[in-house]
Amino acid sequence: MDMDFENRIVAPEYSPEDSETELSLRPKRLSDYIGQDKVKENMSVYIEAARRRGEGLDHVLLYGPPGLGKTTLAGIIANEMGVNIRVTSGPAIEKQGDLAALLTNLSEGDVLFIDEVHRLNRSVEEILYPAMEDNALDIIIGKGPSARSIRLELPRFTLVGATTRAGQLSAPLRDRFGVICRLELYTPEELAQIVKRSAGILGIEIDDSGAMEIAARSRGTPRIANRLLKRARDFAQIIGDGVIDIKNAKQALDRMEIDALGLDSVDRLLLTAMIQNYNGGPVGLETIAAAIGEESVTIEDVYEPYLMQIGFLSRTPRGRMVTPAGYRHLGIPMPGQQKLF
Ligand code: ADE
Repeated sequence: MDMDFENRIVAPEYSPEDSETELSLRPKRLSDYIGQDKVKENMSVYIEAARRRGEGLDHVLLYGPPGLGKTTLAGIIANEMGVNIRVTSGPAIEKQGDLAALLTNLSEGDVLFIDEVHRLNRSVEEILYPAMEDNALDIIIGKGPSARSIRLELPRFTLVGATTRAGQLSAPLRDRFGVICRLELYTPEELAQIVKRSAGILGIEIDDSGAMEIAARSRGTPRIANRLLKRARDFAQIIGDGVIDIKNAKQALDRMEIDALGLDSVDRLLLTAMIQNYNGGPVGLETIAAAIGEESVTIEDVYEPYLMQIGFLSRTPRGRMVTPAGYRHLGIPMPGQQKLF
């Protein structure tokens, strides 16, 4: 189970098992959204300004690692603007006609949320440009020399695009977003607040120390924190009195093989492979990917952000390196370092 990259409990990607909790836990207003203070402050200004002018909101690009609340934020934007949201994703829009159907079905001011917007194909992107810029849909009728283009007017809409990889967005698409927001990993304190809020909604009893223990092991990611909360509840119910405190939170997380900092066996494998095969680096991303049998984009988007945030991994011009703190955490002595004690 631990080697199953897709189903690991600390995977930040959305899993169908998250669906019912995420729906009930999703904050509906900006004021209920915990953390991401810079994004929140700026968005509230843009929303308020657009509302006062009676205009739509500029197109918004949200980027950052998975599981941080990009979809949630899109829902909040729509809610605060008092409009509907339509949710889709880059790979789901296969043909120009798919996007045309979505766009023509929007009402005035609606939010169209496109997750994984970097995965839109070229031909779909091309009809998105005039839609974003002029609220117009250019359709080609006929073929060959008699083909001509007609322009349909669309309702005014706000595109909210989300991506884990802003760098993979084509320049013309990126340039058409008026607002670009980067979401950051959450601090343990912010995650503890999220855990307590979620526990309240789900009717789970938890004390501050239990919430902090779960938060510290959630890799900066609310989706993981909420998942660990549900598992910890099971343990608290069976091995305790139902209240999640530090003792049974620790026991639950240890049983799930999630260590004190939220690393699971895959993170440890990544660091250990770098140390044992490449002396801790510098080693290229592709080389690491091949060594542990994972795609390099997954390593970059999913594993590295957290390992870098906690200072276990660094990106240097010559490749990735395990830091002294990373060695220490794994209990492996650094080569060339004298043991002092
Ligand atoms: N649930 C998931 N992310 C959240 C956030 N940022 N604030 C409040 N609840 C959340």
